[in-house]
Amino acid sequence: MSRAYIPFHRYSFNHLEEEAVIRTLRSGWITRGPQVEIFEKAICEYTQAQHALGLNSCTAGLHLALLSLDLQPGDEVITTPLTFVATVNMIVRCGATPVLADIDPNTLNISIEALEKAITPKTRAIIPVHLGGQPCDMKPIMDLAKTHHLFVIEDAAHAIGAEYQGQRIGTIADVTVFSFYANKNITTGEGGMLTTQNAELMERLRPLALHGLSKDAWKRFSEGGYQHYLVEEPGFKYNMTDIQAALGNVQLAKCDDLIAARSKAVNYYQTHLKSPLLRIPSEIPQIRNPYHLFMILLQTEELKISRDELIGLLHQKGIGTAVHYIPIHFHPFYQRLLPEAKAHLPIATDIAQKTLSLPLFPALTESEQDYIIDTLEALLSSNKK
Ligand SMILES: Cc1ncc(COP(=O)(O)O)c(C=O)c1O
Repeated sequence: MSRAYIPFHRYSFNHLEEEAVIRTLRSGWITRGPQVEIFEKAICEYTQAQHALGLNSCTAGLHLALLSLDLQPGDEVITTPLTFVATVNMIVRCGATPVLADIDPNTLNISIEALEKAITPKTRAIIPVHLGGQPCDMKPIMDLAKTHHLFVIEDAAHAIGAEYQGQRIGTIADVTVFSFYANKNITTGEGGMLTTQNAELMERLRPLALHGLSKDAWKRFSEGGYQHYLVEEPGFKYNMTDIQAALGNVQLAKCDDLIAARSKAVNYYQTHLKSPLLRIPSEIPQIRNPYHLFMILLQTEELKISRDELIGLLHQKGIGTAVHYIPIHFHPFYQRLLPEAKAHLPIATDIAQKTLSLPLFPALTESEQDYIIDTLEALLSSNKK
């Protein structure tokens, strides 16, 4: 009997998401409106953040948060090389210089030691990225930020539902940005959310997400009657729509159940993966990891095949995998921009060809996981040097 292809990721929608979208389509209001307001309030409740702004992506949130700093050429923003390019692209697009601090070899998140060393008088901000959902060690990061008067933006694209020392991610840094892209733990297709405890900052960012139009101008075509708007600062078209938020409201209500299912699958991998030809990154204490990813590190020096060849073989056997990430300093643009980076980033450079993310989604079955584990371990041992 042939087995169905196991994708790397599958989103979890049922009739509730379908009904919510249909209700919104029939409501007469499909762009930013009441559903987005409900979603923003729900995110505030879920994360304990005071203010939330629904956006069309996490990238938009990174852009807005960085814009709020009015960065000047020469200003530096420190982040990790092991992130999606959006994190660093936005630093560049805001006119600042990205500074990559190496990762911790155990957790794969930014190394606090490397971060501290990277701080210079030109540093303006830090963007810790909670890779795969595991929170960075935020206490020392916030301490360093306080000492050096730095702004902190948490890239929590993977980390809705994460906790650090009993505190939900979304309230610790100056700004936190979440992604609801199709493959995230909860999804609105495309979408993002920015949270902050800073009311004044939110007052500036909210209009910037909608052309710079004055407050609540989105209501100008509502039953409240036409209202004029005024622009204080030119903005962008970054708002979330009610169709997206309709999905988000249903997904957020399920978020903890989805995380529980992901945790169970991760636990199964951790218990049953035995091959000495791979290593599982470790976790820091006192966190809740929402397990956006299950990453392994291949001991490629002991293998006859590369990570990318293994990806091809797994695909032939019906298993989808992914890589998180090609480190930033391997991309041609960043090689040109930061030619010295490789020399300063030995750990990220070393693991660049070793990371592999295995299928992880709530509906993944133990039988599928047994097949993934057996196939992976058989391929590793038959390709041992
Ligand atoms: C770490 C990280 N940051 C930022 C983003 C950008 O998110 P979005 O696609 O919602 O703009 C992603 C998306 O995958 C990501 O993984």
